[in-house]
Amino acid sequence: MDFLKPRLIPMTRRRKIYEGKAKTLYEGPEPGTLIQHFKDDATAFNAQKHEIIDGKGVLNNRISEYIFNNLNAIGVPTHFIRRLNMREQLIREVEIIPLEVVVRNVAAGSLSTKLGIEEGTQLPRSIIEFYYKKDELNDPMVSEEHITAFGWATPQEIDDIMALAIRVNDFLSGLFLGVGIRLIDFKIECGRLWEGDMMRIVVADEISPDSCRLWDVKSNDKMDKDRFRKDMGGLVEAYTEVARRLGIMKDDEPVRTSGPKLVQ
Ligand code: TMP
Repeated sequence: MDFLKPRLIPMTRRRKIYEGKAKTLYEGPEPGTLIQHFKDDATAFNAQKHEIIDGKGVLNNRISEYIFNNLNAIGVPTHFIRRLNMREQLIREVEIIPLEVVVRNVAAGSLSTKLGIEEGTQLPRSIIEFYYKKDELNDPMVSEEHITAFGWATPQEIDDIMALAIRVNDFLSGLFLGVGIRLIDFKIECGRLWEGDMMRIVVADEISPDSCRLWDVKSNDKMDKDRFRKDMGGLVEAYTEVARRLGIMKDDEPVRTSGPKLVQ
């Protein structure tokens, strides 16, 4: 039944659908699927700061695979199907809702700056924020009023997005705490998955140390992209440690960044 299996199309022959800052999307092997390719590019401050960090894409591919597989397993719908190789995963094509959905448990980053709350302060409850995905405008924060008035999502869709965000937060908080990591905040993106005439909102994009703030429980060491934003160095080492603690990578497994490698 080999013909039923998706075939891997050589990268040079694939049709590029979209190129983002850290990932590229290619046409998938079957209708309704895409291939999500993780690059080594790191950007911050709307790409004003840019560097290639050898190995970052491989780590994010593995960490995001692990998280999305677990979300699928607990009934949180996502776009993720399976990992294909070191840098790529097969995903369902969704209609991305142009919002960055941020969930915060502890004050840090822009919340600390804007409201003058000291980094590390536990918030009275989890806070959900929406940012409109628009590079030209620097992804401004928006309210539900803006989202519904401008038709980016309906009130029902916002309810679904918030319910997903809370479930992801509960799952990730527990997952990371179990391996000595505090989930400070994170960002998700959601998409509309069409199945015939039916549509449901699913978690899309990636969940990785690029899109989360992760602090070591004991030392408060940063194990996320803030290491790049703040020029702290040691990003690959920190992401490797996250992968190692989650049991994704064996203690002595090096991050191989070159050469083709098919998995399973
Ligand atoms: P912030 O404190 O800079 O607003 O970031 C909140 C969370 O969202 C943090 O975990 C980092 C993540 N994030 C992204 O994934 N992409 C972005 O473009 C920004 C600004 C933040």
